[in-house]
Amino acid sequence: MKFVILLLSVFLINYVHSDAVNTNEDLEDARLLVAKNVLNNYVVEGLNLTIKYNIYNIGNSPALNVKLVDENFPAEYFEYATGFNVAQWARIPPQSNVTHIAVVSPKLPGLFNITSATVTYLPSEKATKVQTGYSSELGEVYIQRLRDYNRRFASHTIDWILFVVMAAPSIVIPYLLWSSSNSKYEKLEKSGKKSN
Ligand SMILES: *[C@@H]1O[C@H](CO)[C@@H](O)[C@H](O)[C@H]1NC(C)=O
Ligand SMILES: *[C@@H]1O[C@H](CO)[C@@H](O)[C@H](O)[C@H]1NC(C)=O
Ligand SMILES: *[C@@H]1O[C@H](CO)[C@@H](O)[C@H](O)[C@H]1NC(C)=O
Repeated sequence: MKFVILLLSVFLINYVHSDAVNTNEDLEDARLLVAKNVLNNYVVEGLNLTIKYNIYNIGNSPALNVKLVDENFPAEYFEYATGFNVAQWARIPPQSNVTHIAVVSPKLPGLFNITSATVTYLPSEKATKVQTGYSSELGEVYIQRLRDYNRRFASHTIDWILFVVMAAPSIVIPYLLWSSSNSKYEKLEKSGKKSN
């Protein structure tokens, strides 16, 4: 039973930038945190996998020219069903958040590393230096074969069929007994009527 239950509510990032010449200015800057989550319980070849990105600006300035890039899902291994691997926002106000959703479908089964997405932004109106942040990596997940996944769920259907087959004698035999005794009774009743 090798399937992966993903409660991948992994958080975080942030690249603490170190060119803090002016500390006061830094406190005023935007600072973005990115959470990358997989919303599905099962990761299966050929089935949709929904990836949700939440970007929080925990700073005190708007973040400008925000660009989220996720190169984790190359066309060789994944197909984008909806959404893109790049999303942009001109501005994310301080103390607020934005969300991006992408739906990808794995082309091949096997182990796969879900790695971090990257966000770049200008941390204030005055800033000229682009800041870079990363979502945390979710790590290795096992992409199930579609066949195995279907078998696992189909097996419940088979359980029901077996149950019905095994339960059948206890339903059918009393019925046969009842219907044969009933027809005997009906015959008796008919012959009784004739003799009257
Ligand atoms: C995956 O998602 C896309 C777009 O939402 C949809 O058109 C497609 O039917 C889905 N595929 C499956 C296998 O659910
Ligand atoms: C994200 O923003 C929405 C409104 O845009 C707000 O309702 C929600 O509380 C925010 N979430 C967090 C964790 O800040
Ligand atoms: C995933 O990443 C870890 C650490 O970087 C590495 O040890 C492992 O081999 C990788 N797995 C795959 C399937 O690429």
